[in-house]
Amino acid sequence: MEEDRAANLVLASELAPRLCRGCERYHLRYIARRAVQGPERDSLDKPVTIRILGELLAARRPQASGWIDIVIAGAADSGTLATAAAAAFQAGELDRCRFRVLDRCPTPLALCEAYGRDKAVEVTTRSEDLLADTLPHPADFVLVHSLFRHIPPDRHVELMRRFTSWLKPGGRILFSVLVEPPGTERPSSTPVMEGLRAMLEAGTLSVAEPVEAFMARVEGETGRERDHAAALAETESILALFARSALKVEAYEEIDGLWGQGIPGMTVMPRRRAFAVLAP
Ligand SMILES: C[S@@+](CC[C@H](N)C(=O)[O-])C[C@H]1O[C@@H](n2cnc3c(N)ncnc32)[C@H](O)[C@@H]1O
Repeated sequence: MEEDRAANLVLASELAPRLCRGCERYHLRYIARRAVQGPERDSLDKPVTIRILGELLAARRPQASGWIDIVIAGAADSGTLATAAAAAFQAGELDRCRFRVLDRCPTPLALCEAYGRDKAVEVTTRSEDLLADTLPHPADFVLVHSLFRHIPPDRHVELMRRFTSWLKPGGRILFSVLVEPPGTERPSSTPVMEGLRAMLEAGTLSVAEPVEAFMARVEGETGRERDHAAALAETESILALFARSALKVEAYEEIDGLWGQGIPGMTVMPRRRAFAVLAP
């Protein structure tokens, strides 16, 4: 169920400059970073998400008949989809799972559609602003992975309530966010950019335009809107959001891991991620 990260980079380099003007650098950098770092990039998030979602799928087995709908709210590329598909595969439920991926940008959605075609996984996508759209997306599970740093804090509760309203009886939200208290060291992007350039020059990765032109596109400030990560970066503020959203916390864990493995010249640093299973 592994993604083809190199193919994702080629496709994104074709699409983002046309389809995601204004945020192309953000998308391309994210996708390039995952291609440079490879599966080690997901060494913390992926196994834990597979375990938790696998347990939820197993618990749902006796109740659910027909399709199991898994909605992914915010997808920078095919990463969260591939993780969810791996959980469904390992739980022996992939044939019953339908994945619906929502994002405001067409580039990540195109990568998810390509993943669905390549792996014969049932995937539909919808380009929508999660804060403005009102279409419901009936779900057994809503996966919310690293989305809330993009959402203004005064809209957090409203968005959690929107996700809750999609849940079928017995449905759950699987919520995950980095725990980054003030003063947490942030990784430098320089080794990633150097690694990217070296891999493009060596032909281990490729893109749809000359290397120099692509590097000019991805280097520099990402240009995306303000990062709201600080508002939801500590255990207390994360748990407070669940309480304010009137959600029951069925499970909560914080897992420690490392960031930066697999990138030459990168200082490997600790990072912590919170995972929660939420019920209405
Ligand atoms: C950090 S990524 C989500 C991470 C993804 N689940 C993962 O871990 O790979 C954030 C994504 O959310 C999308 N996004 C941010 N705000 C949004 C909004 N209001 N509506 C829809 N999508 C949004 C961005 O386009 C971006 O692709």
